[in-house]
Amino acid sequence: MFDFTYYTPTWVVFGRGASAQTGALTAAAGARKVLIHYGGGSVVRSGLLDRVKASLKGEGIAYVELGGVVPNPRLSLVRQGIELCRREGVDFLLAVGGGSVIDSAKAIGYGLTNEGDVWDFYDHTRRAAACMPVGAVLTIAAAGSEMSNSSVITKDEGMVKRGYNDDLCRPRFAVMDPELTLTLPDYQTASGCVDILMHTMERYLSSGDHMELTDALAEGLMRTVMEDARILRDDPQDYEARAEVMWASSLSHNGLTGCGSDGGDWVSHGLEHELGGMFDVAHGAGLAAVWGSWARYVYRDCLPRFVRFAQRVLDVPAEGSQEETALRGIEAMEEFYRSIRMPTNLRELGVRPTQEQLETLARMCSAAAGGAKGSAKRLREADMLEIYRMAL
Ligand code: NZQ
Ligand code: ZN
Repeated sequence: MFDFTYYTPTWVVFGRGASAQTGALTAAAGARKVLIHYGGGSVVRSGLLDRVKASLKGEGIAYVELGGVVPNPRLSLVRQGIELCRREGVDFLLAVGGGSVIDSAKAIGYGLTNEGDVWDFYDHTRRAAACMPVGAVLTIAAAGSEMSNSSVITKDEGMVKRGYNDDLCRPRFAVMDPELTLTLPDYQTASGCVDILMHTMERYLSSGDHMELTDALAEGLMRTVMEDARILRDDPQDYEARAEVMWASSLSHNGLTGCGSDGGDWVSHGLEHELGGMFDVAHGAGLAAVWGSWARYVYRDCLPRFVRFAQRVLDVPAEGSQEETALRGIEAMEEFYRSIRMPTNLRELGVRPTQEQLETLARMCSAAAGGAKGSAKRLREADMLEIYRMAL
């Protein structure tokens, strides 16, 4: 078992009608003037935005609004948000939406409380000293940004997608009403389930020691999310399944399923971030499209973990060699992705990169990691290129 720190400062309010408490939670956080940040309109259509405003008004809290956050949220809107908040004297950022909206709010928070260009943090040329407090009203179970220390932003020029991790940005509170996710398109529900699974798989399929308790939590989470993803494929209105994946989205990325591990692998995420930047794909779907190729490339170097994954998460019987068991586990996972209509290669993702684009993806992925990345197997640019090729 590796040593670890575990820090989850987010106050969670979970259940039907939870969004009515947004005003009280924002007031308790000491906010006087709030930026309500949201996406492309789902929260307008569902009436959630109006309910949130009413809840803030009920507490006498002033607000300004900035909508228009897109999946793979853009730096240009972050800059607009920073200017707006400075002008308006905003002291609290309320994200109403999914990972993209929360990440955009976190970025605005860094921009407001630090001198210089906010992209520096995402470019990893310096670290932030502070972040304006963020609260979240979550509308999609996926990224886990509602409790995570991460923010992922895409720079418009060149469409460069980069993440910055810092405990400063962990939300003060997260309002989680599973009913808010009942309006999600099926593709987003499935893509979200893949992302939730992958946040635990990145931590679980890694080298070195692990903690038995963390493994048991991780296996329970993965089995539960897979079962719920199938239930939601057949009945998107199933409240219990919606509730379980919503809670899983937070637990899968707040650090819990990594306690005692070496921090995880994260190559699949690195590979997807480049695809998300270049082709603007949904994050979870992009992960599903590269995971199988990554797994086949690395499993021999991390065999005990892949065998355990196959047996405990995917119920693969212990027949034949360890390598055979591990490979059957990878096949079973891909079969699961197909069963929820997620892609298992780039073609199914709807992306056909040229040779030059593949090379650019690999070069940028390796550069973003400072050269090498990975725990299951340490990978460099040539390895990343090979995995992209295998995923075609
Ligand atoms: O913009 P609107 O109209 O709200 O539509 C959104 C968007 O099109 C829609 N949606 C959300 N809630 C809805 C809804 N539609 C109907 N009803 C609802 N209740 O869903 C679409 C996707 O939303 P988005 O916020 O992009 O989804 P997600 O939560 O998957 O976030 C993806 C982003 O998070 C990053 C990803 O890279 C990607 O940029 N990640 C952030 C992480 C973090 N901060 O910890 C970790 C992840 O690994 C990930 O990288
Ligand atoms: Zn993710």
